[in-house]
Amino acid sequence: MKTIVITGMTSGIGKALFYDLAKKNNHVIGIARSPEKLKAIKAELNAYNVETLTADLSDFSSLETLVQKLEKIIPSGLDVLVNNAAIVPSSKMTTNAGFEMQYQVNHLSVAYLSLSVLPLLDKKNGRIITTASNAHKRAKFDVHDLEATKRYHPLRSYMRTKLYNIMLMFSLNETTLKQTNIKAYAVHPGLVKTPIGTKHASRMHAFFWRLFTKRGMHPNEALSSYHYLIDAKTHPENLYYYQARAIKYAKLIDHQKNRDTLFQKTKDDLKTLTQ
Ligand SMILES: NC(=O)c1ccc[n+]([C@@H]2O[C@H](COP(=O)([O-])OP(=O)(O)OC[C@H]3O[C@@H](n4cnc5c(N)ncnc54)[C@H](OP(=O)(O)O)[C@@H]3O)[C@@H](O)[C@H]2O)c1
Repeated sequence: MKTIVITGMTSGIGKALFYDLAKKNNHVIGIARSPEKLKAIKAELNAYNVETLTADLSDFSSLETLVQKLEKIIPSGLDVLVNNAAIVPSSKMTTNAGFEMQYQVNHLSVAYLSLSVLPLLDKKNGRIITTASNAHKRAKFDVHDLEATKRYHPLRSYMRTKLYNIMLMFSLNETTLKQTNIKAYAVHPGLVKTPIGTKHASRMHAFFWRLFTKRGMHPNEALSSYHYLIDAKTHPENLYYYQARAIKYAKLIDHQKNRDTLFQKTKDDLKTLTQ
């Protein structure tokens, strides 16, 4: 039995993973923004060891409260954090803190949550798994526009945050986690039939997403990498996985300078959020 925290488990891949891990008798703690959806899921899984916590990843104070709650609920430690929640809004949105919405929800919140639960992960030699995407291979690394706010395009912004998911996991492994027995990973789930492209979306974007994902797999078919990374007896060596196998990521991630630039900006941005 493992203790596992999953963000974004009220729909799509996160929901499928949450149900699967609960039914395999793990202690699973789900985090999402809709109290109604969380209540319904908890009721459906009431025979299992699940807990749910409401948190809006676009709101930093909500994240701070979440971390305090996690510290109370699981004082004995955390085996795995799965950073899975993400969004792709059609039009440019800005958070209360002034960051581009995808940058804060898909990237900064991942960094904050991962860094905040390190003491809990440390107690169990735990793992961090972040849902990235092969869409990152089409992203540019633009040091002058890391938030991708210039000439906003939803996919450009999304692809960058998915690139940052992998870069951040790499940076954590080579810096903060180096002296620990915690390891961070990224997963490409594949093309999965989920409603992600229909939320905060224009009718046209929602239509194209539904059309595009017609050939996508069912969320249950996208879980093997998570199970592999959660169950492996010793920490797997590689960084990025698809269908339980290590796969290649974009070459620009191998550039130390790129990783350092993003990691430094991330830490600076987290500092402004915590002030
Ligand atoms: N679907 C694909 O083909 C595909 C491909 C590659 C990568 N991915 C990645 O897979 C992950 C899961 O995506 P999905 O396709 O399963 O999407 P999804 O069905 O829309 O699930 C996203 C989850 O995140 C939650 N969420 C969104 N914004 C949030 C916020 N501000 N605070 C808290 N929770 C929030 C959603 O809550 P609500 O239920 O309230 O919306 C939902 O539970 C994402 O990281 C995505 O980038 C997906």
